[in-house]
Amino acid sequence: MIGLPRVHHRLTDSTNERAKELALADAPHGTLVTADEQSAGRGRQGRAWSAEPGEALLLSLVLRSLDELLPLRAAVAVAQSLPVPAQIKWPNDVWIGGKKVSGILVEGRPQEGWAVLGIGLNVATRSFPDELSEIATSLALEGLSTSREEVLRSLLGSLDRLLVADAADVLAAWQERDALLGAQVSWSGGRGKAAGITNAGALRVETDAGIVELDAGEVHLGR
Ligand code: BTN
Repeated sequence: MIGLPRVHHRLTDSTNERAKELALADAPHGTLVTADEQSAGRGRQGRAWSAEPGEALLLSLVLRSLDELLPLRAAVAVAQSLPVPAQIKWPNDVWIGGKKVSGILVEGRPQEGWAVLGIGLNVATRSFPDELSEIATSLALEGLSTSREEVLRSLLGSLDRLLVADAADVLAAWQERDALLGAQVSWSGGRGKAAGITNAGALRVETDAGIVELDAGEVHLGR
C-alpha cells in the first residue's frame, strides 16, 4: 500500500522537493509527502503551481518501481479516483468539463530507480485568479463537497491499482479519457489533428507532412 510513511507540512516550498530529499535519504517506495500550502509549487515546463492554503490536495510520492508510463498511470489514477467524469489532456492534465482540475509533475532519477510523483488537485477552490478562471476548475466548483483527506484516500487506492496495472490496460484506460482525440492541436513545432497515443505514451498527431509523434512538451488545443 502506497502512502506510508507520511510526512505532512503545514507550509513547505514544494512537496516534490521534500520528497526528493527523502528519496535521496533512502525513503521507501510509497513514502508520501503532503502539505496545506506551498510557497514554490512547481508545474511542468518550468511553470509555477499555486493554490490557496488548504484548498488543494498537494502531494508527492517517492516511487522506486517505475516504467515510462508512470505519468500516464498517474493521470488515469487521478481521473478514476474522481466521482465525476474526467478526461485527460496529454500527457497528464486531468480535466473536468474542459477545465483543468489536476496537474502532475514527475521528477527524479529514473536511471537510479526512483522518481517523485507530484500531484496537485483543486478540491475546495471557489474562485481562481482572472487568468485561470476560464481554464481551471475544482471539485467544489463542480458541485462536489469533499475533504482533501477523502480525495487523498480515493486517489491512493486508485494509484495502488494503476501503478502495477498491465501497460495495455493503462493505455486503454488513458485512451478512453483522451480529451484531445480528433481535435486540432498545435505545439512549438507545428500543428495537426491529435490521433491518440503510442504504446510508449507519445502523442500521435496527423499533420500535412504525415504522422508526428511527440514524446515531450506541451500541446495546445485548437490553435
Ligand atoms: C502541472 O500541471 O504543470 C503540474 C503541477 C504539479 C503540482 C504538484 S502540487 C504537489 C507537487 N509539488 C510541486 O511542487 N508540484 C507538484
